[in-house]
Amino acid sequence: MEIMSDKHIIDSKIEKLRVLKEKAKQGGGPSRVDAQHVKGKLTARERLSLLTDKGTFREIDALVHHHSTQLGLDKTVPLGDGVVTGFAEVLGKKVYVFSQDFTVLGGSLAEMHGRKICKIMDMAMKTGAPVIGLNDSGGARVQEGVISLGAYAEIFLRNTMASGVVPQISVIMGPCAGGAVYSPAITDFIIMVENTSYMFVTGPKVVKTVTHEDLSSEELGGAFAHASKSGVAHFVAKNDMEALEIVRTLLSYIPSNNAEEPPFVPNDDPTDRIDEELNYSIPANPNQPYDMRDIITKVADLNVFFEVHQEYAPNIIVGFCRLGGRSVGVIANQPAVLAGVLDIEASKKAARFIRFCDAFNIPLLTFEDVPGFLPGSDQEWRGIITNGAKLLYAYCEATVPKVTVITRKAYGGAYDVMSSKHIRGDINLAWPTAELAVMGAKGAVEIIFKKEIDTAENPAVREQELIDEYNEKFANPYIAASYGYIDDVIEPKFTRQRLIEAFNLLENKVDKNPPRKHGNIPL
Ligand code: HXC
Repeated sequence: MEIMSDKHIIDSKIEKLRVLKEKAKQGGGPSRVDAQHVKGKLTARERLSLLTDKGTFREIDALVHHHSTQLGLDKTVPLGDGVVTGFAEVLGKKVYVFSQDFTVLGGSLAEMHGRKICKIMDMAMKTGAPVIGLNDSGGARVQEGVISLGAYAEIFLRNTMASGVVPQISVIMGPCAGGAVYSPAITDFIIMVENTSYMFVTGPKVVKTVTHEDLSSEELGGAFAHASKSGVAHFVAKNDMEALEIVRTLLSYIPSNNAEEPPFVPNDDPTDRIDEELNYSIPANPNQPYDMRDIITKVADLNVFFEVHQEYAPNIIVGFCRLGGRSVGVIANQPAVLAGVLDIEASKKAARFIRFCDAFNIPLLTFEDVPGFLPGSDQEWRGIITNGAKLLYAYCEATVPKVTVITRKAYGGAYDVMSSKHIRGDINLAWPTAELAVMGAKGAVEIIFKKEIDTAENPAVREQELIDEYNEKFANPYIAASYGYIDDVIEPKFTRQRLIEAFNLLENKVDKNPPRKHGNIPL
């Protein structure tokens, strides 16, 4: 009899726990969940189940709630405080995640909500695992005032401390406004969902008052605006599902922390695969464009290239591929857009990508066809000097294996910048179509032979003769090869096997930068 009564007591305690846990799972209740679905958005928990490997998500802090009594908040004390946090596996590897629940107090961030996020960030740092944040929040919880602001600052600090130690990925799946944008901004990658997410420091209403611009949230800070205009977003997804799939793919290329090697994913693509078409991929006319993406995909394992920042500064391409199963970060000039010229945006885009790869031990593969830096007052006044220097600095300081293939133009300062041997490029190869020179033939001839052309009987004919001579003498890879500035000139069809061989060779590369607090990259 006594035993039964003990059992009864225990059962009621367990029942209480079950009720609490179930309550926490309800979020803001059915009507708010419906409203979320009507907007085309999934709930915080639905998102987590799509992101993580089946059955691996373990929630923590489900029973946390706020302790505020301000402005009527004591009448609404939801469990979880508007964010679901915990750890899980993605592709079999540990990750820490938070998923803001817009159905609970608008996903607004305050003391306890912030503490939950900080807790998993601290755990991620101690155990060396990525942090993935699913953002869907009305921002700082108005009722908790400055305490909410403090909570944000605690997160910003951790974002900064974690930078370069564990990968941080932000998915924007709803509002992200005001200072709240600065947490994702410090993280490594931002994925935005079309039509349902937006990011801005000040929203359309304030913008209208201050600048008289009449813009919708989507126009001002939607996925398209940030992917193509500001470069804030690295990926655009059509919906929540696609956004979470992008996170999983991204994680397949990157290590869990800065002390780990990137994942090695063996596949059936032969490492010595020859692609005859590569020999004919560069047009005979050096001014004719071609799509560098075709070359990357021909060389990559299984012809798969996972492009990052596709819509922004398309004159340079960055992304991940595998070579012989090894994860590689690709940076490539894109002759199909603006002739592949380096401008402010392209320099910033590539520099940030290079620094991510270098921080996380991902080797760098550069495909080069660059006519130089973009001239003009717009570029000069907006700081092509400082911004171009970012790219140079990023390549110079990178200590991961660096392999370069010059397919065509390597002109001027851009030759130096694009991972040349002089700045610690490890293996630099050129195709027979490569032209390594201070500048293109026309520009060079006009400078050196101006007088001769002007005084010639037929200036146009003489100019063409001089251009042809210059091309014959300088528009090739052999002068650079004669100085060892490139290691070899190769037939394009062998590029894949030569690259795999090079990265195998460099597998145990050790290189260092001098001890210092930190460098001073031109920001
Ligand atoms: C408290 C909030 C909230 C907030 C939304 N809610 N944002 N509660 N603090 N910041 C609540 C709403 O009161 C509402 O509660 C519920 O969440 C859903 O919000 P709705 O307005 O009904 O939803 P919707 O129409 O979809 O509009 C979403 C929204 C809007 C555009 C995000 O809620 C909004 O403008 N919120 C305020 C945004 C904001 O200015 N935040 C501060 C940004 S500055 P009920 O109970 O009525 O359903 C900032 C600074 C960070 O964040 C600083 C870091 C340094």
